[in-house]
Amino acid sequence: MEAAYAPYSGFRVGAAIQTADGRIHAGCNVENASFSVTMCAERVAIGAAVAAGDRSFRRVFICSTSVEPVPPCGVCRQALSEFGPDLEVISEGSGGLARTWTLRQLLPDQFRLEEHESPRNPDRERPT
Ligand code: THU
Repeated sequence: MEAAYAPYSGFRVGAAIQTADGRIHAGCNVENASFSVTMCAERVAIGAAVAAGDRSFRRVFICSTSVEPVPPCGVCRQALSEFGPDLEVISEGSGGLARTWTLRQLLPDQFRLEEHESPRNPDRERPT
């Protein structure tokens, strides 16, 4: 969160994603003058984890400068579901209160391509 690059919103977010065997990868939000290019802390943490060779996550911890705990945005919920459909999501606000959800509570009916075979595309590569 301290490393966040948030000159446009002033809203700093940190995320730490934990693997099943306890490794932790951190991310922060990285904003851009072209606002839609902004990366949320959660997706930056996912990128750090995947680049380090980890793809299976157990929980994610989020903190921000918001007094209330922030829930992950919709895009990050989908991004998290790719590598941790049963993830525990914990968010703590600057006021000290924390909230906990499962990703399935935050994103019911997750979209996973491998659960939707397409007869037009039988040869596509499967995610590993
Ligand atoms: N943000 C995150 O990093 N994670 C979230 O879950 C919600 C929003 C960032 C994006 C942007 O830099 C700032 O918070 C304000 O939306």
